[in-house]
Amino acid sequence: MPNTRLICLSNKLVPTVNFQRNFKPQVTDIILASYPKSGTTWLKALTVALLERVKNRSCDDIQTHHHPLESDNPHGLVPFLEMNLYLKSSTPDLTNLSSSSPRLFSTHMPLHTLQVPLKDSPCKIVYICRNWKDVLVSTWHFTSINVEETEAEGSFTLELFFDSFCSGVHFFGPFWENVLSYWRGSLEDPKHVLFMTYEDLKAEPHGQIKKLAEFLDCPFSEEEEERGDVDKILELCSLRNLSSLEINKTGTSNDVHNSNFFRKGEVGDWKNHLTPEMENKIDNIIEEKLKGSDLKF
Ligand code: A3P
Repeated sequence: MPNTRLICLSNKLVPTVNFQRNFKPQVTDIILASYPKSGTTWLKALTVALLERVKNRSCDDIQTHHHPLESDNPHGLVPFLEMNLYLKSSTPDLTNLSSSSPRLFSTHMPLHTLQVPLKDSPCKIVYICRNWKDVLVSTWHFTSINVEETEAEGSFTLELFFDSFCSGVHFFGPFWENVLSYWRGSLEDPKHVLFMTYEDLKAEPHGQIKKLAEFLDCPFSEEEEERGDVDKILELCSLRNLSSLEINKTGTSNDVHNSNFFRKGEVGDWKNHLTPEMENKIDNIIEEKLKGSDLKF
């Protein structure tokens, strides 16, 4: 188990260094960031849909024309810097990403790992954050399914996961470091870093998607709002719709079955899995780690 973790971690470090040394940002680049299992797939889908509607200004396109989300999983459309692009090459060919401006990238790495190549770049970063207990439970489910499909079935218990999470041992580093890096970044530079939460998106999807569209400089026009475009995008990107698409029922992304990216999508599912002792322990740790940050979610 520790060896597996070390190997996974080093698998992320080399591509991250490759990215830091060689990435040349374009002014319109957008980077979608998250800690794993925080709503990355949803954020990718929403961003793709928002930008796609700008390319095809006629609203009917959302419904009647072929949409990229119908033929590819959101992870296929928005590649990870460290898990896809810079994994196999230190200088990947990004030219086919340029055909659709702006270029869309994603990452699970903390903000400071992006800051060297992005220094002085006006590109935009959107971070999605989620309650740590739901992140923990979602990660456990996701890993258990993928492990079942490979080797060490039975070795990834919730208790093991819980202990790792609480001690900050994770493929992408401690949860709190990741979240705090983007939270502080969004306070220091709100024009370029937007901090969103999964819970806000669930609670007030209209307001949140409009905020995202404004941040990405593609706000909804009055006409679009009256036509119901906001609802159409939300429906297109809903868990129910995405998970029912053939590509997400049968395809794979990064060696993971696309269907595994969609589970319940609920706020508070942790209540079905964590004991009161676990809840207490993890809440105390997170409270301590976030102390002084003003971050409440
Ligand atoms: P659950 O495991 O709690 O159901 P990520 O995309 O970062 O891997 O996060 C996965 C979590 O987001 C899973 O949560 C998954 O069900 C949920 N999810 C995936 N697509 C979603 C969507 N379109 N809308 C809402 N939640 C979604």
